[in-house]
Amino acid sequence: MSNTYKEQSKKVADYYDKWNDRYDAVYGKIIQAHRPPNDKDLLNYTLTSAGLQDGQTILDAGCGNCGPAIYFAKALKVYVEGLSISPYQVEESKRRIAENGLQERISVTCGDYHELSGLYTANKFDRILFLESLGHAGNPSSAIASAYEILKPGGEIYIKDFYAKKSLDNLFQEKINQVVSNLNRHYSYNVMDLESTIGALRKSNFEIDFIKRIDFKNDASIKNDFEAQFGIDLFEGMEEFYFAEWLEIKCFKPL
Ligand SMILES: C[S@@+](CC[C@H](N)C(=O)[O-])C[C@H]1O[C@@H](n2cnc3c(N)ncnc32)[C@H](O)[C@@H]1O
Repeated sequence: MSNTYKEQSKKVADYYDKWNDRYDAVYGKIIQAHRPPNDKDLLNYTLTSAGLQDGQTILDAGCGNCGPAIYFAKALKVYVEGLSISPYQVEESKRRIAENGLQERISVTCGDYHELSGLYTANKFDRILFLESLGHAGNPSSAIASAYEILKPGGEIYIKDFYAKKSLDNLFQEKINQVVSNLNRHYSYNVMDLESTIGALRKSNFEIDFIKRIDFKNDASIKNDFEAQFGIDLFEGMEEFYFAEWLEIKCFKPL
């Protein structure tokens, strides 16, 4: 499998090692920009949409500080594996899992989600979640192919992320490209292309359950506070515009 992702993964690890406390101060334990005003509504939405249920074994690929994992393990009788590329986040997650007495229900590993098939046994998980994490990938197709290997037949992958809009108008397309490039630089992101992501899922033999707009009203106040506090300016003097679509994608591994 191509390892062209390694440079980007190293950058992302350094980014979260450095920025985790800043996220913690503004976002709290759930590092997701597209959200309703409170964490509980966001995580209940995810729980339902991703089809999480008692008895499942779940991988949270790009788990942050295990905020979502801790919520799901309290709400349901599930076993959750968290994975983060950032050693700092993994230590913070371990501390929080212990603080919540959930050591029997959540494990956390430092590793790269491009290498899932080397980290976990084949056919292990009922669900794999990428909650605003796959957009950091240097090579999303490799991460998706790797996820397929460790899902049980009938298991599902759930991806929440955003995809740049496209335009026939060259000037507007240039503006979109500029904002995406600023966002990638500021957030160590690598904004995904929707068509390529769907192509990668289908080439890996996933079958599509749904692709849809996320069904809650976004509250941008936390993201705006974060960007104001840390001097992040995505539009650099341009008038702000809607440059990306937030979508949820769920696919299953055929039986
Ligand atoms: C925006 S945060 C989202 C965190 C978490 N899903 C949440 O909802 O709080 C992105 C997460 O993806 C993780 N991540 C990014 N690239 C990764 C990779 N190649 N392998 C594993 N984790 C990765 C980061 O370490 C970070 O924890």
